[in-house]
Amino acid sequence: MKNKVIKVMKKITEHYITDESHYLNRRSFIKKSARFGIGLAAFNAFSSSAEGVHGGDLSDKTILTNYGKDLTPHSFKEITNYNNFYEFGTGKRDPAKNAHTLKPKPWHVKVSGECAKQGDYDLEDFIAPYQLEERTYRFRCVEAWSMVIPWVGVPLASVLKTFKPTSKAKYVVFKTLMDKEQMPGQKRATLNWPYIEALTIAEAMNPLSFLAVGLYGKTLPNQNGAPLRLVVPWKYGFKNIKSIVSIHFQETMPINTWQDQAASEYGFYANVNPEVDHPRWSQARERVIGKGSFFSPKKRKTELFNGYGDEVAHLYTGLDLVKNF
Ligand code: MTE
Repeated sequence: MKNKVIKVMKKITEHYITDESHYLNRRSFIKKSARFGIGLAAFNAFSSSAEGVHGGDLSDKTILTNYGKDLTPHSFKEITNYNNFYEFGTGKRDPAKNAHTLKPKPWHVKVSGECAKQGDYDLEDFIAPYQLEERTYRFRCVEAWSMVIPWVGVPLASVLKTFKPTSKAKYVVFKTLMDKEQMPGQKRATLNWPYIEALTIAEAMNPLSFLAVGLYGKTLPNQNGAPLRLVVPWKYGFKNIKSIVSIHFQETMPINTWQDQAASEYGFYANVNPEVDHPRWSQARERVIGKGSFFSPKKRKTELFNGYGDEVAHLYTGLDLVKNF
């Protein structure tokens, strides 16, 4: 029995190492290619056909971008074993343990509300028109911990424009799958299910907003929100809704899940802001996952908009960020 466990552990470790070394080799190859004048366009030659969105390896279909090129990503193991996904339990290890019940294929995304092209799309068709990109972003949870994650996905703006939002589309609302069998945590009233999140249309159209289908060059593991999740790196982690099945354009500001749960603690905007504390803890600093020791964890100063102010500060000109937290 012991040997068997060791064998399984070895297999899992090798799997992580393969994921990371493959990713790092590719990055260093691309860096060298750039030095020798081989443009990134070569990588564009790969079609962005969605065949493969569920097929595991996405690296051949993905172009590398400059987003986060100077950041060092956390390990695959860290990113996939320290999660918040209450549909699978409230502990950080629960999603990795329990999310195997989620079936990310086939998957449908419903587009509705204030737009010209409403519809119900198979995920493969939904993603097919767009070039997959790799972007490494910082990730800051409202609980004051952080990571760096190499995502694969498509710019949200490109996707949303396809559906031709009308002039009444002021907000974009996203919903997670509602299915108590696939997501057993929904049998308990931990939150008001399904999980809902939203952005203003201007936030959604910002070039940083991203719809992820993978990480570390592979399709998203279930615990990270397979097969489709939102990534908005200047906002607290809870805005990054997982396992999306619905995108709805509307005129009025909706109430998101955590606001519904505790409006005095979680707002609509949820922009990372070291100056605006959570009522129960400071947001001035963050614990960097996996760095330092248990007794002396590594901390870093939290940056306004998580360091993405140049790209997004203009969205909030004239808005009181203390009241609109
Ligand atoms: N999406 C759904 N559907 N359910 C959740 O519980 N948790 C949010 C967000 N998206 C959550 C969700 C929170 S609180 C965080 S911090 C991030 O997912 C965590 O993402 P990660 O587990 O990939 O790090």
